[in-house]
Amino acid sequence: MSTTLANIRAGDAAAVAAAADILREGGLVAFPTETVYGLGADAGSDRAVASIFEKKGRPQFNPLIVHVADLEAAEALVVFNLPARELAESFWPGALTLVLPRKADAQLSLLVSAGLDTVAIRVPSHPLAHRLIVASGKPIAAPSANASGQMSPTRAAHVAQSLGDNVDLILDGGATGHGIESTVIGFETQQPVMLRPGAIARDDIERVVGSLATPASDAVSSPGQLQSHYAPRATVRLYARDVQPDEVLLAFGRDVPVGARQPLNLSATGDLKEAAANLFAMLRELDATGAARIAVMPIPDHGLGEAINDRLRRAAAPRP
Ligand code: TXA
Ligand code: MG
Repeated sequence: MSTTLANIRAGDAAAVAAAADILREGGLVAFPTETVYGLGADAGSDRAVASIFEKKGRPQFNPLIVHVADLEAAEALVVFNLPARELAESFWPGALTLVLPRKADAQLSLLVSAGLDTVAIRVPSHPLAHRLIVASGKPIAAPSANASGQMSPTRAAHVAQSLGDNVDLILDGGATGHGIESTVIGFETQQPVMLRPGAIARDDIERVVGSLATPASDAVSSPGQLQSHYAPRATVRLYARDVQPDEVLLAFGRDVPVGARQPLNLSATGDLKEAAANLFAMLRELDATGAARIAVMPIPDHGLGEAINDRLRRAAAPRP
């Protein structure tokens, strides 16, 4: 491990208070959410938000998710339509992000919207995230707490490995529950659109608001949609039913091919929720073996499989 772990602190009351101070002073705090760890800054401060882009090495055109304490706080920043309100009432606090028009008087840096007239917003359910938002008294802009293009962190140590001293404090809340990012829903007029599959499955959302549309253009309206993203160092081979000598295996289900050396199994029982929670941590562990390639067994595309396969396709995409 090349970086210091000194800035990791257990997420007790004193650490949350220290983290809130850092945020108010324009610094960066990594914190756990129920999905992945976020790299947080005061969403009202241009300088603080700019430092997120700088420390992540992220392309400037990527807008950020704003994390708030509750629906009321969200309503101060964006304009809700009816389906958005139904979704918020059904899934907040939780792993759903809504992209909605910015209010003209929203006290938010224009940088969080990266030039768009919308803001992506969510109310996280993780108690540490909630306490941090409340203690800071600020909406918190936070992308996943990893260097741009890399895998999302599901443990405090992943953040330290990826960002090191680029983050002022890392609040340790253990392993994140979902292990995969929030589902991002936008709206074309009033029609909900799936911008990024994520921790809340399409079916669960469609039960509330009916069929989701696919985005009209694949313009970079949701740049989590960049082709190569969530990438380990090793190359990734999908739909593997065997293992080559230079490969390590990310397995799924019972039918693990013979000859795989110490395969890691996303879920031996074929449970997609368990697989999502294990995805990034296991990719990291396989990457750390130094193998040239990670072979990944096929994963069904229903439920959380949609988000898992989305991340895996991007991990496997040709690198820029
Ligand atoms: O679970 C999550 O969503 C985590 C935790 C930390 O909350 N955050 C996260 O942030 O994954 P990030 O920055 O890695 O991904 C944000 C996603 C991207 O796909 C981005 O394009 C989309 O949200 N997004 C943000 N603002 C948007 C906007 N105004 N319009 C369309 N898409 C937007
Ligand atoms: Mg990310």
